[in-house]
Amino acid sequence: MTYAIAHHPLPATLPDFVTQRMDLHYITRIQQLLGGEHPHAWQPTPAGAIFLAGNDYLCLAGEPALVGAQIAALRHSAGELLMSAVYLQEGSAQHRLERKLARFMGAEDGILAQSGWAANVGLVQTLAAPGIPVYLDMQAHASLWEGVQSAGALPVSFLHNDMEHLQKQLLRHGRGLIVVDALYSTNGSVAPLVELVEIAERSGCMLIVDESHSLGTHGPRGAGLVAALGLNERVHFRTASLAKAFAGRAGFITCSSHFKGYFLSESRPAIFSSCLLGHELAWFDAAIDFVAAADDRRAALRAHTRLLREELGALGYNVSDGTEQIIALEPGPEPKTLALRKLLEKHGVYGAMFCAPATPKNRSLVRLTLNSGLDAAQLARIVHACDEIRGQADLESWSSTRRLRKLALV
Ligand SMILES: Cc1ncc(COP(=O)(O)O)c(C=O)c1O
Repeated sequence: MTYAIAHHPLPATLPDFVTQRMDLHYITRIQQLLGGEHPHAWQPTPAGAIFLAGNDYLCLAGEPALVGAQIAALRHSAGELLMSAVYLQEGSAQHRLERKLARFMGAEDGILAQSGWAANVGLVQTLAAPGIPVYLDMQAHASLWEGVQSAGALPVSFLHNDMEHLQKQLLRHGRGLIVVDALYSTNGSVAPLVELVEIAERSGCMLIVDESHSLGTHGPRGAGLVAALGLNERVHFRTASLAKAFAGRAGFITCSSHFKGYFLSESRPAIFSSCLLGHELAWFDAAIDFVAAADDRRAALRAHTRLLREELGALGYNVSDGTEQIIALEPGPEPKTLALRKLLEKHGVYGAMFCAPATPKNRSLVRLTLNSGLDAAQLARIVHACDEIRGQADLESWSSTRRLRKLALV
């Protein structure tokens, strides 16, 4: 059978209010500011390149036990129902997995969502309402801010990890919801969780902690930072993207079984988007067992983090904003950050450029995301690259370097 060559009609013209925004992207930002280069596009990579742009912290991708579980589930997927999670019956594979993941995290129950984004938007939307203040750390993930918008609630920001500022804001706006990341995704800093719990309890606020970057990598058997600090029963809700250390595609919320029933008929992402598929559940089922037993990989990740942070600090990079496996090299303005990313690439080191809206406008950075599988030679190559490029990248002029100098003077 032959097909006629398709005739592609020109797409319908877009109105000015869209083309003006597109011009801001293509002309003002890409062409004029960045010299025609896209901040996130890289050339085909050479063999032996070191990728520090992915979130598979414990190197689960391709693990035979997990792949095998997924393939077996696909083989039995005939007749699988594609529908909203609202229709899932008690005892379904998803509900069983939710209980298993909840047990892993030391919670009564939990809810799987299609992504970390959907988990956060859905949760904040079901908790907050118009007029309710939601206190967000300025660096809290965008999905949490989106949840506040979706709820029509009042977003109240506080300075990153600044508990005094949070308390001032609480005095002004009253009881509501406090929302933080356990481990922040741009610079690897950690939230002061004990203080946050105490403030939430004193002020009568609920507390949500996003554990996307600490679940699997931190805490007993990978149960996260809240569990590591024995705060499971004092944090109202924990959320996580399972697209990090669990290397799949889903999100999770810890909660009580009583809350779960309410959530499933109130959360718009839960109601209006379909549930996970059987092979996705099978991956996570196997991943929980794998991650729980992966103390050696967690220890390797910690050791790599310590080594790189020490070495980069000694080279004059200001990595003092964070302590964990996400390391930010922060030139500040976008053109400088793009130049840094490309210099590193010349040495075979591929980080991810983070810029607005993921960072404030003039605080763009290259994020180096470590994983447990890096070996000593690769770590040495990363340090060597960072050493070699200091002059060309103009490290001395970076805003983060100037902040470091200021700190040294006080
Ligand atoms: C802290 C945090 N929360 C939530 C998300 C959203 O997760 P997902 O990619 O599963 O939608 C991310 C991912 O970037 C994240 O870093």
